[in-house]
Amino acid sequence: MNKFITFEGVEGSGKSTQVKLLGEYLTGKNIPVLLTQEPSGTPIGRKIGDILFNRGHQAMCPETELFLFCAARAQHVREVVWPALKEGKYVLCDRFSDATFAYQAAGRGLDLDFIRTINNYCAERLKPDLTLLFDLPVETGLQRAGRRDAELKDPSVADRFEKEKLDFHNRVRQGYLSLCATEPGRFRVIDAARTVDMIAQDTRRHVMEFINRQS
Ligand SMILES: Nc1ncnc2c1ncn2[C@@H]1O[C@H](COP(=O)(O)OP(=O)(O)OP(=O)(O)O)[C@@H](O)[C@H]1O
Ligand SMILES: [Mg+2]
Repeated sequence: MNKFITFEGVEGSGKSTQVKLLGEYLTGKNIPVLLTQEPSGTPIGRKIGDILFNRGHQAMCPETELFLFCAARAQHVREVVWPALKEGKYVLCDRFSDATFAYQAAGRGLDLDFIRTINNYCAERLKPDLTLLFDLPVETGLQRAGRRDAELKDPSVADRFEKEKLDFHNRVRQGYLSLCATEPGRFRVIDAARTVDMIAQDTRRHVMEFINRQS
């Protein structure tokens, strides 16, 4: 099938912005797409997300966090991703398994092999065919996310992850880059510290090269 494309990167790196722009671009070319996200790509996942992101939940242990993300993924893969892939759509997914490897292994320090085992079970061994990694200094991403949250005029919107220390975010960033190094064929690293347009151009180029290679 080879139509499963994931968007990854630290907080505020521009994933959601670029998923939307690429979705519009592909739709304009009459390429069937489905845009989705984790953990909130299903109604059940949104409820799980409310628990995960609630900044009052400071006591949440990393193991709970891991299983909640995986529970949301199990639901999302079966309810949304597989059906769309079976209909022949390209699925553009805002965060997927690599986020769990980067955040819960590199960020929280849980065992990567164990996470891979659990994740394989939840994701039914579904792996992205192409992964775009939006890479930038974590401070820049957090500033962008902070501005976005302020614009939403709800001071409580900054989530539990955005409130983590810089060290945590830097470990996540390095975790993503290590994943890239082990699977360079699947990843494309995009310099996300530039303008939205420049990033969108790179995103399109990588995705169109990927699509054209298959046809
Ligand atoms: N290249 C860019 N330059 C400046 N601002 C940007 C850029 N890309 C996105 N933004 C803005 O930064 C904020 C964060 O972008 P976005 O929500 O797309 O990031 P994200 O990676 O999805 O964040 P999160 O990890 O919180 O889901 C938004 O307000 C968005 O409009
Ligand atoms: Mg987002």
